[in-house]
Amino acid sequence: MSAASPVRHFLDIHQYDTATLRAILDRALTLKHAKDHPQPYRGKTLALIFEKPSTRTRVSFEVGMRQLGGEVITLTGKEIQLGHGETIADTGRVLSRFVDIIMLRTNDEAKVHELAEAATVPVINGLTDVSHPCQIMADILTFEEHRGPIQGKTVCWTGDANNVCQSWIHAAVRFDFELRIACPQELEPSAKTMAWVAAEGGRVHVTRDPDAAAAGAHAMVTDTWVSMHNKDAERRHALLKPYQINERLMGLASSDAIFMHCLPAHRGEEVSAAVMDGPQSVIWDEAENRMHAQKGILNWCLTP
Ligand code: CP
Ligand code: NVA
Repeated sequence: MSAASPVRHFLDIHQYDTATLRAILDRALTLKHAKDHPQPYRGKTLALIFEKPSTRTRVSFEVGMRQLGGEVITLTGKEIQLGHGETIADTGRVLSRFVDIIMLRTNDEAKVHELAEAATVPVINGLTDVSHPCQIMADILTFEEHRGPIQGKTVCWTGDANNVCQSWIHAAVRFDFELRIACPQELEPSAKTMAWVAAEGGRVHVTRDPDAAAAGAHAMVTDTWVSMHNKDAERRHALLKPYQINERLMGLASSDAIFMHCLPAHRGEEVSAAVMDGPQSVIWDEAENRMHAQKGILNWCLTP
């Protein structure tokens, strides 16, 4: 959020303090369990912009906003002029005259920030090449529903230290849990992110050894080996094969560890079918919680 802007954007987990993130999750839980189905956003419109494909993000935002009484406009791919026919800032200025809040899924994080700088309505980051904050808000909600407070717990991430992993890193610092990342050297978290962790006194550890990362962990987490923006699928498969979460690796974690994955997942690649469809997997709750967490985010952004 620009220092001069009174608008509440939701851009990246590390930009907000713990109390703010907690308030969003508390609101998400309240709305999830509300019996009276509050509709505070009658007459308000959410614009969703997708420069990359989506199932969960699109449906969870569309249904969530409608449940809250609001309207939704979804713009995808080349049907929008974003960054092609006009500047991102100009798109932000124009959309702000029509809608009350904007979500953007794009490649370059800078586009989300440029949109937020120019828009006079809140902007939500719906995934970039380097972050996925809405997903990890839903993931924290899911962990805590199943296992109680995440503070002081240990989460193990194996595989590519990608956009989803980066938001887990931000969450580890803000929600005060240990995050162990097992990944090949080529796919490590950025030096800048790890310098931020060190400056914040966070507990994020990077190793090549998935067994060591898994030992005693309370949650086992992974993601696709080939993200939407990756071109080198064959090389990634070769690099990431030793990092699959399977029954053997789950067996090294705490006996009550849960398995999490943002989806879409690939059985037999980053996760075995036995784990993904097994009793420790909470992936369908995790997917549903996208909507509840995002209702909390919408509520925070739209609160004057
Ligand atoms: N997890 C997630 O963001 O899924 P989609 O790409 O389907 O939105
Ligand atoms: N890392 C994945 C997440 C998809 C929700 C990607 O960026 O494609």
